[in-house]
Amino acid sequence: MPSNFINFLLFALLIVSRRGLLVYAQDTDSGIVSLNDTSYGWFVCSKTSTSYMEYAIAVVPSSAIPNDQAGTTSLAHRPGSFSQFGILTFGTNYTGAHQFADPNSASFIYIANLSCADQPVPSCSPNSQTFNTSTVLCLAVSNPNGCETKFSYSISFTSGVKYPALAIFDSNPSSCPTTTTPSMTTTIIDGASYTGTGLSLSSNADIDLINDISGGHPI
Ligand SMILES: *[C@@H]1O[C@H](CO)[C@@H](O)[C@H](O)[C@H]1NC(C)=O
Ligand SMILES: *[C@@H]1O[C@H](CO)[C@@H](O)[C@H](O)[C@H]1NC(C)=O
Ligand SMILES: *[C@@H]1O[C@H](CO)[C@@H](O)[C@H](O)[C@H]1NC(C)=O
Ligand SMILES: *[C@@H]1O[C@H](CO)[C@@H](O)[C@H](O)[C@H]1NC(C)=O
Repeated sequence: MPSNFINFLLFALLIVSRRGLLVYAQDTDSGIVSLNDTSYGWFVCSKTSTSYMEYAIAVVPSSAIPNDQAGTTSLAHRPGSFSQFGILTFGTNYTGAHQFADPNSASFIYIANLSCADQPVPSCSPNSQTFNTSTVLCLAVSNPNGCETKFSYSISFTSGVKYPALAIFDSNPSSCPTTTTPSMTTTIIDGASYTGTGLSLSSNADIDLINDISGGHPI
């Protein structure tokens, strides 16, 4: 009987430690964010190195109350101008998030398959991605609209752990309250493509190579 008892104790310890480990290892976040104009961007990064990322994000009505604790809102790379209303989302790594959060940066790298970066979208939920190498991964969001825009997001950086339920609302805006279309010029230049081991990031297309709206930054 003593050996059975010891086995039982070991088993109980194993369950406790596994549960503890599982809870501790989860890296998920969710919240509602407000970006009041095109000069501000928002990003959230994994708390430790990871090789996994999956998220869902959606524009929410102006009545939604911002409650995000995990991410950072700051002056950031200014998006170009588009005729559609929506948000631009970029899966990236720590390097890309820092480039994004620099209002003077002419461009930033992002992972095309983890982004809705070609046109503003009302929502975005790319397929989860698992990379061969671990690094700090991030989600960055731009508001390309001429008005305050709010969004709800939910993200998991832990393989096998689904992101928390996304806060959704009955109706969401599909345009700015006022319909003035600012006339701005953009310049699109062919971009370079960066490929690392396991993590493949591209810098191209419509976002990171569009001149700042201010026009102050030569590429
Ligand atoms: C815009 O948002 C930033 C960051 O959230 C805030 O510091 C700033 O006061 C806001 N500006 C206006 C005009 O609301
Ligand atoms: C990324 O997207 C491209 C084209 O859509 C696809 O060929 C490639 O396999 C994707 N990469 C990953 C890691 O899913
Ligand atoms: C981010 O990705 C780029 C391109 O693959 C790479 O050069 C850079 O070292 C990466 N940064 C981090 C912190 O992993
Ligand atoms: C990632 O790992 C898989 C399986 O080991 C391998 O087939 C693939 O070539 C690797 N990809 C990169 C970019 O290293």
